[in-house]
Amino acid sequence: MKASVLDKNGRMLHDRLRVDTPKKVTPRQLVGLIAGLIPTLPRFDRVSVGFPGVVRNGVVLTAPNLGTDRFHRFNLARALERRLGKPVRVENDADVQGLAVVKGKGVEMVITLGTGFGSSIFIDGRLGPHLELAHHVFRKDKTYEDELGEAARERDGDQTWQRHVREAIESLRNLTNFDHLYVGGGNSRLLNGALPRDVSVVSNTAGILGGVRLWA
Ligand code: BGC
Repeated sequence: MKASVLDKNGRMLHDRLRVDTPKKVTPRQLVGLIAGLIPTLPRFDRVSVGFPGVVRNGVVLTAPNLGTDRFHRFNLARALERRLGKPVRVENDADVQGLAVVKGKGVEMVITLGTGFGSSIFIDGRLGPHLELAHHVFRKDKTYEDELGEAARERDGDQTWQRHVREAIESLRNLTNFDHLYVGGGNSRLLNGALPRDVSVVSNTAGILGGVRLWA
């Protein structure tokens, strides 16, 4: 879990703090972990959260890598508002990351390579419907996340994982005809070699910068 405080122009006012999310974390623990970071950070007025799952109106519907069984229907936005005493917005992490990086022209797609496989799509800068491509079939009977998540990289090695990332990019091109595709997330820096002209790697801090745009 990463946190920082930004000004309204998206300038970071503090280095990104990072804490490991405990295995089998419960919603209560997660709220406690977030609250625990606050004393180290500068004063703030609002809170934006990029959550690794499906979120509707601040309520978590799925959390594939944290535990959907524990998080399903948890009103994370409300729990954090109560705990922190500030207005809170919670959205899917890849959607938040996308808000930071898209240019606002044409069909722009964002994927994030980390523990899970995140994706978001924008049309002329407007966020499209959240598609959980992570759990959609990619190749053979495997999903995008089965082949491109961190567990797959550890299992298959960097070479094979990279080849699959490139295959996925072409598969997503067929699906969406994107004008541009951005690749973010912690593992994006492991992609070496040339990428197609309409594909670029974006900094992993973008996820945090997108939080400011959630309030635009
Ligand atoms: C989840 C997505 C999330 C992605 C990256 C996937 O497992 O289903 O909602 O965006 O991981 O965290």
